[in-house]
Amino acid sequence: MLHKVNKDIIILGIESSCDDTSVSISRNNQILSNIISNQKVHVKYGGVVPELASREHQKNIIPTISLALKKANISKDQIDAIAFTRGPGLMGSLLVGASFAKSLSISLEKPLIEINHMEAHVLSNCIDDNPEFPFICLTVSGGHTQIVYVKDINSITVLGETLDDSAGETFDKCAKILGLSYPGGPEIEKKGINGNKFAFQFTFPKVDGLNFSFSGLKTNFMQLIQKNIVSNQSFIKDNLEDLCASIQYTIIQILISKFNIAIDKYKPRNIAISGGVSANQEFRESIKELDNKYNLKVLIPKKEYSTDNAAMIAIAGYYKYQQGLFTDLSTSVNPRYKLKKYKTI
Ligand code: KG4
Ligand code: ZN
Repeated sequence: MLHKVNKDIIILGIESSCDDTSVSISRNNQILSNIISNQKVHVKYGGVVPELASREHQKNIIPTISLALKKANISKDQIDAIAFTRGPGLMGSLLVGASFAKSLSISLEKPLIEINHMEAHVLSNCIDDNPEFPFICLTVSGGHTQIVYVKDINSITVLGETLDDSAGETFDKCAKILGLSYPGGPEIEKKGINGNKFAFQFTFPKVDGLNFSFSGLKTNFMQLIQKNIVSNQSFIKDNLEDLCASIQYTIIQILISKFNIAIDKYKPRNIAISGGVSANQEFRESIKELDNKYNLKVLIPKKEYSTDNAAMIAIAGYYKYQQGLFTDLSTSVNPRYKLKKYKTI
């Protein structure tokens, strides 16, 4: 039950779990600003370099906070609380965001709220919306692939998750094999737009229940390239569009087939997606089709709230603020911060 607060609640949210420094200002469940400073420094390494990421966060965080306040037309004194990502994520990156959040909390004398990044991805579906509960959400990011049961704002539990690589990681690794830059998901999407998604078939993982596995698919993809490149040195170049369309289609089919099982089993009122991969247009369209199939409401966050952003941290903070769920200054970041597993009562 949410505690009613009779005034607008202004939250400053800070997200710094990986390679994007983001700051957002929310008023109730609306977003006034959401500034994201992308770190281009990692592109040439084909993946995130943790030491460089924390250094970039240090450089970016003050200008990002200033810009977020300016764009929202909010002064520091108007902020009711500061929310920050406690984990999961990279230790150094998390520390930069958490330290700034703590200093702001001390200097402004405003409460501090810690947020689980995976919970925030799910709650990105509550921005500008008040979805009915319960719903189940398929969160697909670079670090995680999980189906969660959202009983209410306070109860988000894991029904199934990947046993090895995440779907986002599979996009990134396959893109690397194809010589495309990081992050690979958007690159594969762009290159595959006119490709034939049925040109190449890959083995479908056999995993029981609602868990996923993607490492076999990545190996399968690599083997296909290695085999064909022997007889045709320019195999990748000649087939780039079809390879991209086919691997994207396979990843989406694996995700949706598990989601179907979860919907059949838990019969939710709404379903949702979240996380970086939910910015993928074909994935969004395939998920939208499930509304007719199951006669339920499909929640899909705006693309700017799908990939890492602080708006979702501010929104999660707004809900915690209403319940007085504040954090002690002694709290430490948790790179392996996990959501609880779903338990049948
Ligand atoms: O949620 P996110 O921004 O960061 C993490 O919490 O990990 O997700 C990043 C992941 C990367 O693997 C990236 O390749 C993937 O999301 N991604 C996409 C797209 N945009 C980002 N994958 C497929 N299609 C996209 N358009
Ligand atoms: Zn994320």
